[in-house]
Amino acid sequence: MKRLLVLGGSRQAAEGLKRLKALGFELVVCDMDKEAPGFEFTTHRILASVYHADQCIPAVLEFHAHTPIDGVMCLACDVPHIVARIAEKLGLPGIPVTSADLTVNKLSMKDRFTESGVPVPPYRAIGSLDDLKAAAADWGRLVIKPTDSRGSKGVSLMDEQGDLAWAYDYALTNSPGGQVMAEKYLSGPQVSTESIVIGGEAITPAMSDRSYEFLDRYAPFIVENGGDMPSSLPDAMKAEIADLVSKGAQALGIDRGIVKGDIVVHEGRAYIIELAARLSGGYFCTHQIPLSTGIDLVEASARTALGEALNPLDWREKYHRPVTTRWLIPECGTIKSFASATDVMASPGVLAFDSWCEIGDEIGGAMNAAASVAMVQATGNDRRQAIENAERALDAFALKVDCV
Ligand SMILES: Nc1ncnc2c1ncn2[C@@H]1O[C@H](COP(=O)(O)OP(=O)(O)O)[C@@H](O)[C@H]1O
Ligand SMILES: [Mg+2]
Repeated sequence: MKRLLVLGGSRQAAEGLKRLKALGFELVVCDMDKEAPGFEFTTHRILASVYHADQCIPAVLEFHAHTPIDGVMCLACDVPHIVARIAEKLGLPGIPVTSADLTVNKLSMKDRFTESGVPVPPYRAIGSLDDLKAAAADWGRLVIKPTDSRGSKGVSLMDEQGDLAWAYDYALTNSPGGQVMAEKYLSGPQVSTESIVIGGEAITPAMSDRSYEFLDRYAPFIVENGGDMPSSLPDAMKAEIADLVSKGAQALGIDRGIVKGDIVVHEGRAYIIELAARLSGGYFCTHQIPLSTGIDLVEASARTALGEALNPLDWREKYHRPVTTRWLIPECGTIKSFASATDVMASPGVLAFDSWCEIGDEIGGAMNAAASVAMVQATGNDRRQAIENAERALDAFALKVDCV
């Protein structure tokens, strides 16, 4: 039996860990939370913060000394740079540390893409408010972000008249390394992709049309409220995106494993906003992708981490079932009541539901991906019906919030 180390045992990792256990892998799960839901499915536990290399790596080395690990990956957490370091230290399959490091710094990643001719939005490093004002004058609408954060934390959308001093400060305070960048805002449909790279070529079974229907309501924050599969983009554009992701992976020196893309289609051309060298969270790789396509990228990631040779033909989508995800993002206030999960699951077409709020919780308002309190996935005869069913299911949750 192969022993697989998975960094991350959160609620969003639990379903994937359950499946890996069912596939017969002996799991070692690392998480700092003694109560992490993913621990239910593991044989061994390592209690350490996966986001802190100085805690995680020594704890893994110590474990490995008495119980050797055969492979390492992460699930529903953004730590490819730590996975790569562990793989390198233990002589396990993985991507180069230099490649992983490029993916966790948006500025270095975009520099590499630009050198390699991979299209990205116009971007630049921002060292001062004056730099930001100059960028706003050049581009009009722009996105300001920390180079090294995640989940839209510190990210804002501004135009020249916006409060640029606030935006700069907001990005800076959310950047662990104190580094800010700005990009021209490219309008147009946005797509999430998730791919398995085999022998340097990315196979992309999953493309989801991201829903930003409340962009104005949440401005200046960029908050996604769900996604729809299969993508409604024309086949030729899907092929362009798949090719772009493959070129992006090659540019970063990623020849194996998972890449997860944020793509924007602007004036008929696809651009990479970012490419992460890891599985997604957000119930995407664990729920929406397998439900919609029959492909389990968690398994693909595990087999790659253990050094198995994958056949590209096994990882192409098997079908295109309409599956929509919707996040419930309440206005600020105090949670008063909500219906049961059973009520939501009884709504037509519901495939999956999860919520993580309690009565009395204070909701701070929609600033980033952490603003949601529940998630539903639903299907239907077609895309429209899947969307309607997901929206109806969130209504069935009947969340009541007292605004002050
Ligand atoms: N240049 C851009 N044009 C349009 N939308 C953008 C741009 N940059 C970022 N966004 C939007 O903001 C979101 C968050 O930015 P991103 O760079 O992906 O940071 P994070 O690490 O927080 O996910 C993106 O998924 C995308 O929807
Ligand atoms: Mg992103």
